[in-house]
Amino acid sequence: MSHEEFPTDNPAVVTVGLPYANGDLHVGHLRGYVTGDTVARALRRVGQQTAFVCGSDMHGTPIAVNAAEEGVSPEDFAMEYHELYAETFPEFNVEFDNYGHTHDEENVKTTREFVRSWIDADYIFEKEIQVAYDPDADQWLPDRLVEGTCPYCGEHARGDECDEGCQRHLEPGEVEDPVSTLTGNPAEYRERDHKFLRLSDFQDYLQEFIDRVEGTDNAKNQPREWIEGELQDLCITRDMDWGIDYPGDEAEELVLYVWVDAPIEYVSSTKQYTERVGADEYDWEAVWTVEDESELTGEDNGEIVHVIGRDIIQHHAVFWPAMLRGAGYNEPRAILATGFVGIDGKALSTSRNRAVWADEYLDEGFHPDLFRYYMIDGSGMETDVDFSWDRFAERVNGELVGNLGNFVYRSLLFAHRNYDGTPDADVSDDVREHIESAIAGFEDALNEYRIRDIGAAAIDVADFGNEYIQHSEPWKLTDDDPERAAQVIRDCVQLTKACAVLMQPVMPGKAAELWAQLDEDGSVDEVALDDALATPPAEFGEPDELFSKIEDDRTDELNEKLQARVEAATEGDGDREASDFDPEGLTDERVSFEDFDDLDMRVGRIEVAEPIEGADDLARLEVDIGVETRQVVAGIKQLHDLDELPGERCILLANMEQAELFGVESNGMVLAAGDEADLLTTHSDAPLGSKVQ
Ligand code: 2FM
Ligand code: ZN
Repeated sequence: MSHEEFPTDNPAVVTVGLPYANGDLHVGHLRGYVTGDTVARALRRVGQQTAFVCGSDMHGTPIAVNAAEEGVSPEDFAMEYHELYAETFPEFNVEFDNYGHTHDEENVKTTREFVRSWIDADYIFEKEIQVAYDPDADQWLPDRLVEGTCPYCGEHARGDECDEGCQRHLEPGEVEDPVSTLTGNPAEYRERDHKFLRLSDFQDYLQEFIDRVEGTDNAKNQPREWIEGELQDLCITRDMDWGIDYPGDEAEELVLYVWVDAPIEYVSSTKQYTERVGADEYDWEAVWTVEDESELTGEDNGEIVHVIGRDIIQHHAVFWPAMLRGAGYNEPRAILATGFVGIDGKALSTSRNRAVWADEYLDEGFHPDLFRYYMIDGSGMETDVDFSWDRFAERVNGELVGNLGNFVYRSLLFAHRNYDGTPDADVSDDVREHIESAIAGFEDALNEYRIRDIGAAAIDVADFGNEYIQHSEPWKLTDDDPERAAQVIRDCVQLTKACAVLMQPVMPGKAAELWAQLDEDGSVDEVALDDALATPPAEFGEPDELFSKIEDDRTDELNEKLQARVEAATEGDGDREASDFDPEGLTDERVSFEDFDDLDMRVGRIEVAEPIEGADDLARLEVDIGVETRQVVAGIKQLHDLDELPGERCILLANMEQAELFGVESNGMVLAAGDEADLLTTHSDAPLGSKVQ
């Protein structure tokens, strides 16, 4: 079933994945919030009633561990970050209608209500499972307190997620060769009773859901393999103190898994919004609740739009719809999953300080809208972006200063100086049609979730305007053909107004400045798209330039600073190696020479290195090993700049079993050392195909 186009008569809610209240925010985090804010603003722009809500994710093992390290309670620890986030988002013009947190009263209550509904509907059962335990620390090891090997792809994995390999959610007891992250010692598996949500009951429902959910391709397609396979029931409790207590009577020592109460905060946060503004203005129930299942596909449902990072698609496209359905709630209409942000081809890292921090960006004196524009318009939403000051400056100087800023400034200046404002003339048909088609393009882009094209709408209008003014040369017409001059400038002022209206979702601050320069009444945040065609004020003052050029020496300075940071982060790895790195003990088991000789290791040269779509860490390599060229899949995407790899020599285990990862055949294994996948190579010029012995 396809949904009715936006705007519908129902209220919408836009949410963004909750940030763990666990550290400072960097540009990687901000990408999602800026995207969500743009979507919410764009929906309002087309006339859709919309609430934009979020909250801090306060629970989970990393917060408990970090708080213990700092000697404070997890609640105090998380609250500090929660408050920081609540202040930081508006500084990037990310304006939530409600920003709560998962530990607040509303969410505790709503979460317990959800779980009670599941219990009443018989979706919960208890099962004895194997849970990792650290005998030295005398402690259970939920989630990130244990690491080991993913049973599905063999990559290194955390207790509840295969973060370096296939990205699957892992259930307690699944990770192989478990090691305690508390002590570094091998963990034991011990038996323990836990509560489960019977996800398998929702298999049919989820298969129908995934066919009708809208959004980005990654969010619609990736979950199919999970939904179509056998659905594993979801363990919803953990052996921890920090979290929301399981509401049943008999298991009081258990708290709920962080991924239970986190998405429920989407509902709680919307409720808080309604409590504040009143149900007449915004009714949370009209969005989140449905009378019965048949209503799910009806036309009277609220529109739930989730914006997330692509690492949490499974949680939002599989677990969450089942959780909602099990409690009689509405389902998401759309799931939009963004790519990651990296630096120099590597993932951002909070612990290694390989990042551009939110406060640092603002301290550099840049307007938040420039960052928003760069993130939204830089590339498609699903694509990973490598943050670069060069690219940032290029886009600001080219598209914002050179195109948009230039057009609106020259138009308004000419209009002000020659006519005190908007000249008295009709807008020409051509220009009106162009604005109408930009409006239609904006609406289509929103309905098809092409967020980048929402941002491009104003730029296209400015492009058209620049060509028009250049070609019409009104400055030559004021004496000879004043009527035509007035007509051209009238058109340009209208195009300027259209730019203000269309750019507002991506650059709300700059749109407001332009609105004020036009001396328009009210707020540009409130107007509808069609206002782009309404007549601008007859009088306005002298404009200011909307954007300023980022000079080359400034970009050089920023590059140097970032480069030094990246190098320090890399050297930091080295330092850790020398000081903190604790190499695994040597094995006592010896292998025979024959066994070693069975390994056919060859000198190779990487010819092609490209990312594998949908896989966070995997890259497809083609390696020339003299006798032939082999395709292999390697878990190095985040750890190396793939563009730099072709030409590099490496060692390939040529008789490794064949495997298929993310649909790509892997025929061999490239040898690498350590967590950073330091590629093994040769140090002289052994010909390609030479055997390693
Ligand atoms: O992965 C994360 O960062 C989680 N804190 C996201 C939670 S989103 C949700 F569903 F609540
Ligand atoms: Zn895996």
